[in-house]
Amino acid sequence: MRQSLGEEKVFKDPVHNYIHVQDELIWALINTPEFQRLRRIRQLGTTFLTFHGAEHSRFSHSLGVYEITRRIISQFERNGYADWPEDERMVALCAALLHDLGHGPFSHSIEEAFHMDHEDWTCKILLGDTEVNRILKQISGDFPEKVAGVIRKDYDKRIVVNLVSSPLDADRMDYLLRDAYFTGVNYGTIDIDRILRMLRPFHGRVVVKESGMHAVEDYLMSRYQMYWQVYFHPVTRSSEILLRQIFRRAKELWASGYSFQFMLDPLPGLFTRELTVREYLQLDEALIQTVFMKWQSEQDPILSDLCGRFMERNLYKYVEMETMDSEFIDEIKQSFEAVGLDPLYDLEIDSPADLPYDVFRPEDELRTHQILLLDRQERLKEISEVSDIVRSISGIHRGRYHLYFPKGKLEAVADRLPEHISTFFKA
Ligand code: NI
Repeated sequence: MRQSLGEEKVFKDPVHNYIHVQDELIWALINTPEFQRLRRIRQLGTTFLTFHGAEHSRFSHSLGVYEITRRIISQFERNGYADWPEDERMVALCAALLHDLGHGPFSHSIEEAFHMDHEDWTCKILLGDTEVNRILKQISGDFPEKVAGVIRKDYDKRIVVNLVSSPLDADRMDYLLRDAYFTGVNYGTIDIDRILRMLRPFHGRVVVKESGMHAVEDYLMSRYQMYWQVYFHPVTRSSEILLRQIFRRAKELWASGYSFQFMLDPLPGLFTRELTVREYLQLDEALIQTVFMKWQSEQDPILSDLCGRFMERNLYKYVEMETMDSEFIDEIKQSFEAVGLDPLYDLEIDSPADLPYDVFRPEDELRTHQILLLDRQERLKEISEVSDIVRSISGIHRGRYHLYFPKGKLEAVADRLPEHISTFFKA
C-alpha cells in the first residue's frame, strides 16, 4: 500500500528547512498520542542546563530522521539503483520516524537508575495495544513486527537496518546537525546534501562513493568535536549525576516504606516493577519536573536537597583524576564518612566510555560499524584505510576521570579532612 496524501503536508524545520509528508500512513503516525508525547521529551535531556538553547524535543529530531531517510530513498529511486528494494520504502520510513518512540523523560539517567532500555520500549509500543500499532496494522498484520525488526536490527532486509542504524545513518546525521544548531556551537555544520548525494545501496548495505570521502571526513570530525564539546560536557554530566541520585534516593525511600508527602502515578510502578505500556506513556519531563519541584519540601533531607539542587541548577563541582587510583578513592570515601559526609551521595566518579566512531572492528563480520567507500572499480575500502584524518581521530580515548562533589558541603568540613584530600578537592 502506498496511499499518498491528496496534498503534501510540510513542517517548517530550522535544520532541514521543510519536512515533507507525502503518505497517509506517515501523517497518521505523527498524529498519534504516542508520537505527540515526544514533544514533551527533550532530545538532549539535561543539556539545557549547560547550553540554554538545547530545548529541542525528540519530536523534532524524529521528524528530521524521517526526512533524511525520505531524501536518501528518493535519491536511490531517482538513480534506479538495483540494490535498493523499492517495496521496503514504507518499512524504512516508519522505522526512521518511530525509532525513538520509547525514550523516557531524561532518558539516560532514568534508564541507568531503573535498568530500562528505550529500544525495548520502542518495540513494546510498536507491538502493544497502542494507536501506533493500530495504524501500522492497516498495512498488514505483520507490519508492526517488521518495523520492530528494523529497530532491533534483526530485520532480514539488511539494507533497511543499515539505513536506519549505522555510523552514517539518518539518526546520527540529524542529531549532529540539530544538536549543533540548538546548542549554538560552531561544530556540526556538515554539508548534508553532499553526503546524501554520495550514498548508494550496494550488496545489502549503504556505502559512500569514493569521491564523497572528504564530506564524510568532515562529518566524522564534527562528530568528534560535538562529542567533547556537547555530549560529554562535564557540567551536563554533573546534572545527569544529580538526576540519577534523585531517582536512586526516591527508589530507596519507597522500598523502605517512607511515606512521601507528594507522589504521582506512575512513579510507584517505576520504583517497584515493570510498568505497563499505558503507564510508561504517561511519563514525560513535565511530570518529572513537577515531582521534583514538590519533593524540594520532602522530610527526607537527602531527597529535598537533591531536588532543590536540580531545580535551582546548583550542580556538583568536579575535579579531574588522570588515572583511576582505587586506593585513593577508598581513602576519600573513608575520610568522607569520618566527617559525616555520605560517600554514596556526596561523591560520584565519571569517565567517558563511548567513542565517536569505531574504526577497526575485525571481530565484526557484518562490518556494520564501518563506513565503506566504493571506488570506480566497485571495490570497497574501509574509510580509515584511505583517510589520514579519520585514522588520526579513531581510537582516541582521553580516559580522564571526573570526581563530582557538593562544593559547599565539602567546604564546611574541609578543615576536618586529611590535608592532601582537602587540597585535592580544591584543585
Ligand atoms: Ni534518534
